[in-house]
Amino acid sequence: MRSIIDTLDLTVGEIEELCDTALDMIKRPKLYSHICDDKILATLFFEPSTRTRLSFEAAMYELGGHVLSVTDMATSSASKGESMADTSKVLSAYSDIIAMRHPKEGAAFVAAENANVPVINAGDGGHCHPTQTLADMLTIYREKGHFDGLTVGLCGDLLYGRTVHSLIHALSRYEGVKFICISPSELRLPSYMKQDFNVEETTSLEEAIPMLDVLYMTRIQQERFADRQNYERLKDSYVLTPEKLSRAKSDCIVMHPLPRVKEISVAVDKDPRACYFKQVENGKYMRMALIYKLLTDAEEDHSREVRPSVSDGKKCVNPRCIVSVEQELPHRYKKDSRGVCRCIYCDSEMV
Ligand code: NCD
Repeated sequence: MRSIIDTLDLTVGEIEELCDTALDMIKRPKLYSHICDDKILATLFFEPSTRTRLSFEAAMYELGGHVLSVTDMATSSASKGESMADTSKVLSAYSDIIAMRHPKEGAAFVAAENANVPVINAGDGGHCHPTQTLADMLTIYREKGHFDGLTVGLCGDLLYGRTVHSLIHALSRYEGVKFICISPSELRLPSYMKQDFNVEETTSLEEAIPMLDVLYMTRIQQERFADRQNYERLKDSYVLTPEKLSRAKSDCIVMHPLPRVKEISVAVDKDPRACYFKQVENGKYMRMALIYKLLTDAEEDHSREVRPSVSDGKKCVNPRCIVSVEQELPHRYKKDSRGVCRCIYCDSEMV
């Protein structure tokens, strides 16, 4: 049974198939309006979310399915100390597919290994957010017509911005894609991402902007800062204004996963290159396509997801990893292409 923890769990071909299915769903909605009539989606959100949760719910309703939602985790059994493994087993008894968001990195991975139904990661801490990337990929595909050879500027909080991590994973598999990472030095991409992908780094949006085909703005992730003063100092690092955008190519598209705080001035919304509200609509259709695909795959394969890993005394010391709060979880790792041992849950280097 397939679960989706990150975009790397999908092949390039599968992402393109999902784009095609989503486009067909846009064109012929009636054809798909009853394909999940007897299915239930459970949304399990341990972190605040409006748009992503509603997007999943809207997607399931459009497919004719039903939705069970846990919106206030303060009233759930997790607040009594229930483990992620138990929560996901229990939810599997009530639903056919689970979409979950959690503040700890790797939480969705733990759920996927324990659930009896497919799990979709709707964001695990600052780690991954694959369905936002699917929305982003469909937007790029519809606006630019291709992925190969694009120069993509990623601007803002690249350390904690999970949407950026999943987008790099998806786009890096295309020929000639170049990433220009624009961030304050404190909020650069995590080191495991820098080693794995060919990225250029700068602190200047003004200098990078004329080179870009896609400008992907992100918010500074206030909730992930341990030190409030650091957030206050960095929060207004980048603000895209019509003046700055006037230096960009005439066909450069501007994207943002939303919610925006101040990083794109409202005056930019009128510019035909602004695509962030289109991303919202594309997100619903890509989630419809993904739910449909995973439910269809699950009908053929009932086996539970287990990913190979080693557990030999090495430790993950990332305080944001799920192992930091669920003490009984074994510390496990896999080796990356350079032979570095990386935590199976959060990808950080083991010690
Ligand atoms: C993003 C997220 O949750 O990571 N938002 C979203 O999915 N709509 C981006 C963000 O919160 O900044």
